[in-house]
Amino acid sequence: MCGIIGYVGNQTAVPILLDGLRRLEYRGYDSSGLAVMNGGGGIELRKRSGRLANLRQLVRDQPAAGTCGISHTRWATHGQPTDENAHPHHDRSGRLVLVHNGVIENYQSLRDRMAAEGHAFLSQTDTEILAHLIGRQYDAETDGTPEMRLVAAVRAALKQVAGTYGIAVMHADAPGFLVGARLGSPLVLGLGKGENFLASDVGAIVSHTSDAIYLSDRDLVYLTGEDFKIETVDGGSADFEVSRVEFTAEQAERGDFPHYMLKEIFEQPVTVENAFRGRLSDDEASAKLGGLNLTPRELREVDRIVLCGCGTACHAAMVGEYLIESLARIPTEVEIASEFRYRNVTLDKNTLIFVISQSGETIDTLAAMREGQRKGHRVLGLVNAVGSTIARESDGGSYLHSGPEIGVAATKSFTSQVTLLALLALLLGRMRHLSVAQGRELLEEIRALPEKIARILARNDRIREIALKYLDAEGMLFLGRQFNYPTALEGALKMKEISYIFASGHASAELKHGIIALVSEKLPSVFVAPKDSVFDKNISTIEEVKARKGPVIAVTTEGCDEMERVADDVIYVPPTLECLSPILSVIPLQLLSYHFAVARGCDVDKPRNLAKSVTVE
Ligand code: AGP
Repeated sequence: MCGIIGYVGNQTAVPILLDGLRRLEYRGYDSSGLAVMNGGGGIELRKRSGRLANLRQLVRDQPAAGTCGISHTRWATHGQPTDENAHPHHDRSGRLVLVHNGVIENYQSLRDRMAAEGHAFLSQTDTEILAHLIGRQYDAETDGTPEMRLVAAVRAALKQVAGTYGIAVMHADAPGFLVGARLGSPLVLGLGKGENFLASDVGAIVSHTSDAIYLSDRDLVYLTGEDFKIETVDGGSADFEVSRVEFTAEQAERGDFPHYMLKEIFEQPVTVENAFRGRLSDDEASAKLGGLNLTPRELREVDRIVLCGCGTACHAAMVGEYLIESLARIPTEVEIASEFRYRNVTLDKNTLIFVISQSGETIDTLAAMREGQRKGHRVLGLVNAVGSTIARESDGGSYLHSGPEIGVAATKSFTSQVTLLALLALLLGRMRHLSVAQGRELLEEIRALPEKIARILARNDRIREIALKYLDAEGMLFLGRQFNYPTALEGALKMKEISYIFASGHASAELKHGIIALVSEKLPSVFVAPKDSVFDKNISTIEEVKARKGPVIAVTTEGCDEMERVADDVIYVPPTLECLSPILSVIPLQLLSYHFAVARGCDVDKPRNLAKSVTVE
């Protein structure tokens, strides 16, 4: 997915557009560009492949003045990351420019039709086709002011489009005027004093305003520095509300940390507490999750739960399955969102579906939610990004309250998601079989998590030493059982997505069913083996690896000295309940992959080929 920014007001646009792109780079970073109205009836267009620094240099070499502009940072879907394919794209006249996040699925037929009319295209992108289509409609509109002709042209063009879009458009005939629209890709309107903004993500403009309107699918907005109007693409009226952004600009900054990922790892004592703050009930020895919009009676009638997510969110869901089945005894299953959306899953009327998503914009998770709703099921969201599409379209749910997660590799969102799932399991369990004593024990252990996470973070240097020791590893196996099988999967995902080495996660006992053939002196195995009900089984599996000269790094519970006998390197975590152990066990894996990747010279915050939220299929 990509990041887009629009600005119109009384300030010079370029610094605002560039700073916005810097804050959006995590959404895509293979090329970037901007366009500004130059005040002389024309548009200045600057764009470059590669990182944002290349665009900054171009703008230094070829300055562009103006107080109205649009900009874009790209994650390529159609066409290589080249200067030509970078956004903004212009129409045939060169007087209309557009930036786009999404995929125009019928771009080829539109391209063929316009090529037959003599349109010539400079890029391989679907976006350029959309720019030409709007420009073609603009030229066909003969009545009204340039501004209203542009609005009509955007409307007419989008009616011909299949696919997804979040766009910002401007035309040299309409200086100081922007048009935006969205379907399937996020778009936020930021409201300033004498200036207004469009952005893919409110984090890009939070340094300028905390008042935002999260546009809905099929909304169309047009704006000047003084005013705005929101309608639907079909011309109807659109409901909207002004929201107050709950985080500040500095929270979205890196601070003294070398990378956002490390900052976000170290935020976890606070973010895990944010996830349970105000949601623990000592009186009832239970949890309070008001946003579920379900009565206690409705919650008691739930006889099956489906948890959907992608990537890290899916791993959190897998922990959730163990949590809910062990604490609430409700049959629970995890569906990879991209599978669920196409699978004809058998669901009955008392099945409750949860979608889990940090960004609240992941297209597969969004589609899974809509598929569940289409079949008449309540779908609740566990989401971090306030005002995101999933947050707004779900039938309720809970926010993680983790603050913006900028690093592409999810870290704090995972521990907050698991914390929320533990609260859900406690709530459902206390409505069924959990005793007061069991509820109180869980509450006590949940409250102790932040301090225990801090103790693990204090071992950062030791974990870094271990990472450096294995720097020449050709790959890594991550192994865990029960609640920590998903933790092993998450550790493998962290390692592969930021260091680019092969890494795979497995249930420990699966090793002897083929995977052990991979074990060698060059292939370390990372065991997530806290002192729990399957500890001895993990020790046995570790010994099988050692018998084949495989190096072993083990994450285990403080005081568990037995591990020193079998593992080559041991990372200790504080004791906690087995069902909460993934929240602690994952921290060493996050740090291990971080230090390993940094030492290998990888770009930890912006790994190759990836983007923070995948809003295209
Ligand atoms: C995890 O580190 C990755 N960034 C990726 O797997 C991510 O978890 C996945 O794309 C889901 O994102 P979401 O939580 O924003 O829906």
